[in-house]
Amino acid sequence: MLIKTISEMNEFALSNKDESIGFVPTMGSLHSGHLSLVEKSNKENQIAIVSIFVNPTQFGVNEDFSTYPRDIRKDLDLLSDYKVDAVFCPEYEDIYPKDYKTFVEVHDYSKKYCGVTRPDHFRGVATVVCKLLNIVKPTFMYMGEKDFQQIFILEKMILDLNMSTKIIRCPIVRESDGLAMSSRNIYLDISERQKALCLYQSLLLAKKLFNEGEIEIEHAKNKMAELIEKSNGIIDYIAFVNNNTFNEVKRLTKDTRALLAVKIGRTRLIDNMLLGEK
Ligand code: PAJ
Repeated sequence: MLIKTISEMNEFALSNKDESIGFVPTMGSLHSGHLSLVEKSNKENQIAIVSIFVNPTQFGVNEDFSTYPRDIRKDLDLLSDYKVDAVFCPEYEDIYPKDYKTFVEVHDYSKKYCGVTRPDHFRGVATVVCKLLNIVKPTFMYMGEKDFQQIFILEKMILDLNMSTKIIRCPIVRESDGLAMSSRNIYLDISERQKALCLYQSLLLAKKLFNEGEIEIEHAKNKMAELIEKSNGIIDYIAFVNNNTFNEVKRLTKDTRALLAVKIGRTRLIDNMLLGEK
Protein backbone atom coordinates (compact mmCIF):
# COMPACT_ATOMS: atom_id res chain seq x y z
CA MET A 1 0.00 0.00 0.00
CA LEU A 2 1.33 3.43 -0.95
CA ILE A 3 0.78 6.06 1.74
CA LYS A 4 1.39 9.71 0.98
CA THR A 5 0.12 11.65 3.98
CA ILE A 6 1.26 11.78 7.59
CA SER A 7 -2.29 11.39 8.88
CA GLU A 8 -2.83 8.18 6.89
CA MET A 9 0.54 6.84 8.01
CA ASN A 10 -0.32 7.65 11.63
CA GLU A 11 -3.61 5.88 11.29
CA PHE A 12 -1.97 2.81 9.75
CA ALA A 13 0.65 2.70 12.54
CA LEU A 14 -1.97 3.05 15.27
CA SER A 15 -4.15 0.33 13.78
CA ASN A 16 -1.11 -2.00 14.01
CA LYS A 17 0.16 -0.87 17.39
CA ASP A 18 -0.04 -4.35 18.90
CA GLU A 19 2.10 -5.90 16.14
CA SER A 20 5.87 -5.66 15.80
CA ILE A 21 6.59 -3.06 13.13
CA GLY A 22 9.85 -3.18 11.16
CA PHE A 23 10.80 0.08 9.46
CA VAL A 24 13.36 0.87 6.74
CA PRO A 25 13.81 4.60 6.08
CA THR A 26 15.39 5.40 2.67
CA MET A 27 15.87 8.19 0.19
CA GLY A 28 14.85 5.89 -2.65
CA SER A 29 16.83 4.95 -5.76
CA LEU A 30 16.81 1.54 -4.18
CA HIS A 31 19.55 -1.05 -4.68
CA SER A 32 20.37 -4.43 -3.15
CA GLY A 33 21.80 -2.75 -0.04
CA HIS A 34 18.40 -1.18 0.74
CA LEU A 35 16.60 -4.36 -0.22
CA SER A 36 18.70 -6.45 2.19
CA LEU A 37 17.29 -4.27 5.01
CA VAL A 38 13.74 -4.70 3.70
CA GLU A 39 14.18 -8.46 3.56
CA LYS A 40 15.46 -8.64 7.15
CA SER A 41 12.73 -6.31 8.41
CA ASN A 42 10.06 -8.42 6.68
CA LYS A 43 11.43 -11.63 8.08
CA GLU A 44 11.60 -10.38 11.67
CA ASN A 45 8.31 -8.47 12.01
CA GLN A 46 4.61 -8.83 11.48
CA ILE A 47 4.34 -5.47 9.74
CA ALA A 48 6.95 -4.05 7.33
CA ILE A 49 7.10 -0.35 6.43
CA VAL A 50 9.53 1.38 4.05
CA SER A 51 9.76 5.15 3.63
CA ILE A 52 11.07 6.97 0.58
CA PHE A 53 11.84 10.64 1.11
CA VAL A 54 14.77 12.63 -0.27
CA ASN A 55 15.30 14.79 2.77
CA PRO A 56 16.35 18.34 1.81
CA THR A 57 17.64 19.31 5.27
CA GLN A 58 20.49 16.78 5.18
CA PHE A 59 22.01 18.21 1.98
CA GLY A 60 24.41 21.16 2.09
CA VAL A 61 23.81 24.17 -0.18
CA ASN A 62 26.38 23.01 -2.73
CA GLU A 63 25.41 19.36 -2.54
CA ASP A 64 23.35 17.16 -4.85
CA PHE A 65 19.79 17.54 -3.49
CA SER A 66 18.37 18.63 -6.85
CA THR A 67 20.22 15.96 -8.85
CA TYR A 68 19.93 13.12 -6.32
CA PRO A 69 18.58 10.12 -8.30
CA ARG A 70 14.80 9.72 -7.98
CA ASP A 71 12.78 6.95 -9.61
CA ILE A 72 9.73 6.20 -7.52
CA ARG A 73 8.15 3.88 -10.09
CA LYS A 74 11.22 1.68 -10.24
CA ASP A 75 11.45 1.71 -6.43
CA LEU A 76 7.82 0.62 -6.03
CA ASP A 77 8.39 -2.04 -8.64
CA LEU A 78 11.43 -3.41 -6.77
CA LEU A 79 9.50 -3.35 -3.48
CA SER A 80 6.61 -5.26 -5.04
CA ASP A 81 8.79 -8.39 -4.86
CA TYR A 82 8.83 -8.10 -1.07
CA LYS A 83 6.09 -8.37 1.49
CA VAL A 84 5.90 -4.66 2.37
CA ASP A 85 2.70 -3.56 4.09
CA ALA A 86 3.15 0.17 3.53
CA VAL A 87 5.47 2.39 1.51
CA PHE A 88 5.40 5.88 2.99
CA CYS A 89 6.26 8.61 0.46
CA PRO A 90 5.42 11.94 2.07
CA GLU A 91 5.45 15.32 0.34
CA TYR A 92 8.05 17.93 1.34
CA GLU A 93 5.37 20.38 2.48
CA ASP A 94 3.91 17.73 4.74
CA ILE A 95 7.23 16.99 6.48
CA TYR A 96 8.47 20.59 6.48
CA PRO A 97 5.45 22.90 6.35
CA LYS A 98 5.97 26.64 5.92
CA ASP A 99 7.43 28.15 9.06
CA TYR A 100 8.97 24.84 10.19
CA LYS A 101 11.30 25.57 13.16
CA THR A 102 12.40 22.47 15.05
CA PHE A 103 15.69 20.59 14.53
CA VAL A 104 17.39 17.76 16.39
CA GLU A 105 21.13 17.93 16.87
CA VAL A 106 23.28 15.21 18.44
CA HIS A 107 26.29 17.19 19.60
CA ASP A 108 29.93 16.15 19.16
CA TYR A 109 29.27 13.02 17.08
CA SER A 110 27.64 15.16 14.37
CA LYS A 111 30.66 17.38 13.86
CA LYS A 112 33.27 14.65 13.44
CA TYR A 113 34.33 12.71 10.33
CA CYS A 114 31.54 13.26 7.74
CA GLY A 115 30.36 16.22 9.84
CA VAL A 116 33.56 18.17 9.20
CA THR A 117 32.84 18.72 5.51
CA ARG A 118 29.05 18.32 5.89
CA PRO A 119 28.38 20.41 9.03
CA ASP A 120 24.57 20.35 8.92
CA HIS A 121 24.15 16.88 7.43
CA PHE A 122 23.51 14.92 10.62
CA ARG A 123 21.21 17.59 12.01
CA GLY A 124 19.04 17.02 8.93
CA VAL A 125 19.26 13.23 9.30
CA ALA A 126 18.41 13.27 13.03
CA THR A 127 15.52 15.67 12.46
CA VAL A 128 13.87 13.69 9.69
CA VAL A 129 14.42 10.32 11.38
CA CYS A 130 13.00 11.68 14.65
CA LYS A 131 9.92 12.81 12.73
CA LEU A 132 9.62 9.50 10.86
CA LEU A 133 9.86 7.55 14.12
CA ASN A 134 7.09 9.67 15.64
CA ILE A 135 4.91 9.08 12.60
CA VAL A 136 5.61 5.38 11.93
CA LYS A 137 6.16 4.29 15.57
CA PRO A 138 8.20 1.21 14.62
CA THR A 139 9.43 -1.45 17.03
CA PHE A 140 12.66 -1.88 15.05
CA MET A 141 14.41 0.32 12.50
CA TYR A 142 16.78 -1.45 10.10
CA MET A 143 19.89 0.52 9.09
CA GLY A 144 23.00 -0.28 7.07
CA GLU A 145 26.50 -0.19 8.55
CA LYS A 146 27.52 1.49 5.30
CA ASP A 147 26.53 4.73 7.09
CA PHE A 148 28.21 3.84 10.35
CA GLN A 149 28.34 7.36 11.80
CA GLN A 150 24.64 7.80 11.01
CA ILE A 151 23.76 4.69 13.03
CA PHE A 152 25.73 5.93 16.03
CA ILE A 153 24.14 9.35 15.94
CA LEU A 154 20.62 7.93 15.68
CA GLU A 155 21.25 5.43 18.49
CA LYS A 156 22.36 8.33 20.68
CA MET A 157 19.30 10.38 19.69
CA ILE A 158 16.98 7.48 20.56
CA LEU A 159 18.70 7.04 23.93
CA ASP A 160 18.79 10.75 24.79
CA LEU A 161 15.19 11.43 23.73
CA ASN A 162 13.79 8.31 25.44
CA MET A 163 12.42 6.92 22.20
CA SER A 164 11.51 3.25 22.17
CA THR A 165 12.53 2.06 18.68
CA LYS A 166 15.58 -0.21 18.55
CA ILE A 167 18.02 0.10 15.66
CA ILE A 168 19.05 -3.17 14.00
CA ARG A 169 22.47 -2.81 12.35
CA CYS A 170 22.79 -4.60 9.02
CA PRO A 171 25.99 -5.49 7.11
CA ILE A 172 27.25 -3.55 4.08
CA VAL A 173 26.17 -5.00 0.73
CA ARG A 174 28.85 -4.74 -1.96
CA GLU A 175 29.11 -5.12 -5.72
CA SER A 176 30.93 -8.30 -6.82
CA ASP A 177 34.24 -6.39 -7.00
CA GLY A 178 33.85 -4.96 -3.49
CA LEU A 179 32.51 -1.44 -4.11
CA ALA A 180 29.91 -0.66 -1.44
CA MET A 181 26.51 -0.22 -3.07
CA SER A 182 25.30 3.38 -3.00
CA SER A 183 22.67 5.41 -4.83
CA ARG A 184 25.49 7.84 -5.68
CA ASN A 185 27.54 5.21 -7.58
CA ILE A 186 25.59 6.12 -10.73
CA TYR A 187 27.46 9.46 -10.78
CA LEU A 188 30.70 7.59 -11.59
CA ASP A 189 31.85 7.28 -15.20
CA ILE A 190 33.59 4.07 -16.31
CA SER A 191 37.08 5.16 -15.32
CA GLU A 192 35.90 6.61 -11.98
CA ARG A 193 33.99 3.40 -11.27
CA GLN A 194 37.30 1.54 -11.51
CA LYS A 195 39.12 4.08 -9.36
CA ALA A 196 36.37 3.93 -6.73
CA LEU A 197 37.58 0.45 -5.82
CA CYS A 198 40.39 2.13 -3.89
CA LEU A 199 38.07 2.66 -0.92
CA TYR A 200 37.42 -1.06 -0.47
CA GLN A 201 41.01 -1.97 -1.32
CA SER A 202 42.42 0.44 1.24
CA LEU A 203 40.12 -1.01 3.91
CA LEU A 204 41.25 -4.52 2.99
CA LEU A 205 44.83 -3.29 3.25
CA ALA A 206 44.20 -1.92 6.77
CA LYS A 207 42.73 -5.29 7.74
CA LYS A 208 45.68 -7.16 6.25
CA LEU A 209 48.17 -4.92 8.06
CA PHE A 210 46.28 -5.48 11.31
CA ASN A 211 46.23 -9.26 10.77
CA GLU A 212 50.00 -9.15 10.21
CA GLY A 213 50.45 -7.48 13.59
CA GLU A 214 50.34 -3.76 12.77
CA ILE A 215 48.87 -1.67 15.58
CA GLU A 216 50.15 1.82 14.73
CA ILE A 217 47.40 4.11 13.42
CA GLU A 218 49.69 6.49 11.54
CA HIS A 219 51.44 3.72 9.63
CA ALA A 220 48.15 2.09 8.58
CA LYS A 221 46.72 5.48 7.62
CA ASN A 222 49.75 6.34 5.47
CA LYS A 223 49.62 3.02 3.63
CA MET A 224 45.90 3.46 2.95
CA ALA A 225 46.45 7.03 1.77
CA GLU A 226 49.22 5.90 -0.60
CA LEU A 227 46.89 3.35 -2.19
CA ILE A 228 44.02 5.85 -2.52
CA GLU A 229 46.20 8.58 -3.97
CA LYS A 230 47.50 6.17 -6.64
CA SER A 231 43.88 6.02 -7.87
CA ASN A 232 43.65 9.84 -7.78
CA GLY A 233 41.20 9.69 -4.91
CA ILE A 234 41.03 12.84 -2.78
CA ILE A 235 40.87 11.84 0.86
CA ASP A 236 38.31 13.64 2.98
CA TYR A 237 39.20 11.60 6.09
CA ILE A 238 40.51 8.24 7.24
CA ALA A 239 39.63 7.43 10.85
CA PHE A 240 39.87 4.51 13.24
CA VAL A 241 37.14 4.23 15.88
CA ASN A 242 36.06 1.71 18.47
CA ASN A 243 33.21 -0.32 17.01
CA ASN A 244 31.18 -0.12 20.23
CA THR A 245 31.86 3.37 21.58
CA PHE A 246 32.65 5.28 18.36
CA ASN A 247 35.63 6.86 20.18
CA GLU A 248 38.79 7.41 18.17
CA VAL A 249 41.31 4.69 19.07
CA LYS A 250 45.04 5.05 19.77
CA ARG A 251 46.01 1.55 18.59
CA LEU A 252 44.44 -0.92 16.17
CA THR A 253 42.56 -3.82 17.79
CA LYS A 254 40.01 -6.37 16.55
CA ASP A 255 37.25 -3.95 17.67
CA THR A 256 38.60 -1.12 15.54
CA ARG A 257 36.51 0.04 12.62
CA ALA A 258 38.29 1.91 9.84
CA LEU A 259 36.10 4.64 8.30
CA LEU A 260 36.82 6.76 5.28
CA ALA A 261 35.39 9.28 2.84
CA VAL A 262 37.08 9.83 -0.51
CA LYS A 263 36.23 11.96 -3.50
CA ILE A 264 36.48 10.24 -6.86
CA GLY A 265 36.16 12.99 -9.44
CA ARG A 266 33.22 15.01 -8.12
CA THR A 267 31.59 12.12 -6.28
CA ARG A 268 32.16 11.73 -2.55
CA LEU A 269 31.99 8.10 -1.42
CA ILE A 270 32.13 6.56 2.06
CA ASP A 271 32.95 3.07 3.29
CA ASN A 272 34.14 1.30 6.44
CA MET A 273 35.28 -2.07 7.73
CA LEU A 274 35.71 -3.79 11.08
CA LEU A 275 39.36 -4.88 11.25
CA GLY A 276 38.70 -7.98 13.37
CA GLU A 277 35.88 -9.24 11.14
CA LYS A 278 36.48 -12.69 9.62
P1 PAJ B 1 19.80 6.07 2.08
O1 PAJ B 1 21.15 6.54 1.67
O2 PAJ B 1 18.76 5.86 1.03
O3 PAJ B 1 19.99 4.73 2.88
C1 PAJ B 1 18.90 4.09 3.50
C2 PAJ B 1 19.43 2.93 4.33
O4 PAJ B 1 20.09 1.99 3.48
C3 PAJ B 1 20.49 3.39 5.37
O5 PAJ B 1 20.30 2.70 6.59
C4 PAJ B 1 21.78 2.97 4.71
O6 PAJ B 1 22.85 2.73 5.62
C5 PAJ B 1 21.36 1.69 4.00
N1 PAJ B 1 22.31 1.34 2.93
C6 PAJ B 1 22.71 2.12 1.91
N2 PAJ B 1 23.64 1.47 1.17
C7 PAJ B 1 23.83 0.26 1.76
C8 PAJ B 1 24.68 -0.87 1.48
N3 PAJ B 1 25.51 -0.87 0.45
N4 PAJ B 1 24.59 -1.93 2.29
C9 PAJ B 1 23.74 -1.94 3.36
N5 PAJ B 1 22.93 -0.91 3.68
C10 PAJ B 1 22.97 0.17 2.89
O7 PAJ B 1 20.64 6.84 4.84
C11 PAJ B 1 19.74 7.47 4.31
O8 PAJ B 1 19.15 7.11 3.12
C12 PAJ B 1 19.12 8.72 4.95
O9 PAJ B 1 20.11 9.41 5.66
C13 PAJ B 1 17.91 8.42 5.85
C14 PAJ B 1 18.28 7.56 7.05
C15 PAJ B 1 16.79 7.74 5.04
C16 PAJ B 1 17.35 9.76 6.39
O10 PAJ B 1 16.98 10.62 5.38
